[in-house]
Amino acid sequence: MKFNRRTHTCGELREENIGQHVVLNGWVDTRRDLGGVIFIDLRDRYGITQIVFEPSYNSESHETGKDLRSEYVISIEGKVRKRPEGTENLAIPTGTIDVMVDKLIILNKAITPPFQIKDNIDVNEDLRLKYRYLDLRRKEMQDNILLRHKMYLIARRYFDSNNFVEIETPVLMKSTPEGARDFLVPSRLHKGRFYALPQSPQQYKQILMVSGFDRYFQIVKCFRDEDLRADRQPEFTQIDIEMSFVDVEDVYEIMEGFVKTLFKEIKNYDLRTPIKRLTFDEAMEKYGSDKPDLRFGLEMVTLSSVFQNSEFRVFKEAVETGGIITGLLAKGCGEYTRNQLDVLTEFVKKLGAGGLIWMRVKDNSLEAPISKFLSEEEKQGIIKSLGAENGDLVFILSGAKLKALSIMGNLRLEMASRLGLIKEDAEPAILWVTDFPLLEWDEETKRFYAMHHPFTSPKLEEIELLKTDPAKVHARAYDLVLNGNEIAGGSIRIHDAELQSLMFKTLGISDEEAEVKFGFLMNAFKYGAPPHGGIAFGFDRLAMLLAGKSSIREVIAFPKTASGMSLMDECPSFVSEEQLKELHIKIR
Ligand code: AMO
Repeated sequence: MKFNRRTHTCGELREENIGQHVVLNGWVDTRRDLGGVIFIDLRDRYGITQIVFEPSYNSESHETGKDLRSEYVISIEGKVRKRPEGTENLAIPTGTIDVMVDKLIILNKAITPPFQIKDNIDVNEDLRLKYRYLDLRRKEMQDNILLRHKMYLIARRYFDSNNFVEIETPVLMKSTPEGARDFLVPSRLHKGRFYALPQSPQQYKQILMVSGFDRYFQIVKCFRDEDLRADRQPEFTQIDIEMSFVDVEDVYEIMEGFVKTLFKEIKNYDLRTPIKRLTFDEAMEKYGSDKPDLRFGLEMVTLSSVFQNSEFRVFKEAVETGGIITGLLAKGCGEYTRNQLDVLTEFVKKLGAGGLIWMRVKDNSLEAPISKFLSEEEKQGIIKSLGAENGDLVFILSGAKLKALSIMGNLRLEMASRLGLIKEDAEPAILWVTDFPLLEWDEETKRFYAMHHPFTSPKLEEIELLKTDPAKVHARAYDLVLNGNEIAGGSIRIHDAELQSLMFKTLGISDEEAEVKFGFLMNAFKYGAPPHGGIAFGFDRLAMLLAGKSSIREVIAFPKTASGMSLMDECPSFVSEEQLKELHIKIR
């Protein structure tokens, strides 16, 4: 079909174009037939232009205009005119003009879409994902994709201007069974062998440091076969970074510069640096989370010292077993009904708490089912520690430290949402969480796991502790947290063979096992590894937050559902017997 090249986009024409003969291409957004005159909103990704088929202007084109339906792809030629007084639409940049049509070519017809192409549609997300090509026609989604595009550019410009080199690393790599579950790719040429898709380019970027590329970055796809949530996808994007001859402070400085640039260029917001820091221990005690949301206060308070000599069995046990007693003050919630309190009790029980202790502050004392077990001194201790006043409500949880704190942290978020403490227009709350524990004990397998990964350096002054009390050792690891979301994480690495070997030993990984799993990295390190460290940003999460969305699916062109399906192309899918045979695979 022959059609003329467009002279303008649908977002371009203004009053200065009045009188010009123009060609526009695009999709029919809406069509209104007003007593013989047909108005079409013509859409492309730049905007919307109103075009008019008027019988008195051109009766032939008006006749063809009658055939138009939503989402038809058309090309029109016509004359720009000033809209008649009173019909302007100041909500759009092209709203003072329209185009009188001389010639219409229908480039393609379209069947009726399953939902309207407009913002704020109220349809099931599965339907949007099945027809993602239509969903992506919506301005809201186009804006998200354009924001991503801008973020790629800002990242590349920033890191390039700071001497970082972008280097691609393989997508087919060796499976390294630490961390999340790998996605595997069977090899046709090597029967019984598998490639793994990278969970991150961690080992390659460390090897690049050995090669002398002292500042590396990559915008890179990572793959993890884990349970999905609103902020997790099986394939997601990182801005991956590694630097040589650095310590923690150098990483902070470069990354703060990057986030500052992003906020300035995307939001025109001046982010103040240096960014606040909290140690993991502080974050857990005050906010019950290693990714605390600091857009509101509502701090938890450790009450263990109040109950040092408690007669109350639950608290006594917590103190004796080295656990913790943590409290949270809900201001002005003293009148919560029994029913409301039962709902909150259920909420914490679902998270694994034995129960929830609550107390109403009345007459400068505490009123609660358990109050008979507490001395007046303890009650006053609680009131004082929490700064409670009459009319308030107190929550207390006790038990194993990290578990109790994390459940209270969840209750903190729940109360913040009930009390409307998170304001839409709140200032971005960003912080570093530092000094993570190096290791995590797993009760099931009775061994330590690296909290970050096995190449993370312990704090140098705590290396000796690794031999005696590994649980107490802290890592030179850090996370960057924005509005309660972990947006980046990294560490200074071990570059010294002896320390690495001690680390493997602590993790219960034998020399042979280390050789099989990480041999290539360890070998590389024998040839002169510089001290190095790095970090990776969750690009999708960052985009989600900058776009003000609550799911990363909103900022990914073709995401998977929570069950890992792509509804549009219906993968994962079955494959032919022939393909399986080639790959030496039998489905049982
Ligand atoms: P980490 O595993 O912390 O570190 O990942 C870095 C960041 O990536 C994001 N992220 C995810 N985003 C979406 N979906 C997922 N499934 C997902 N998993 C992680 C998070 C996280 O902060 N190699 C190390 C980095 C390093 O040490 O340099 C790494 O991958 O925002």
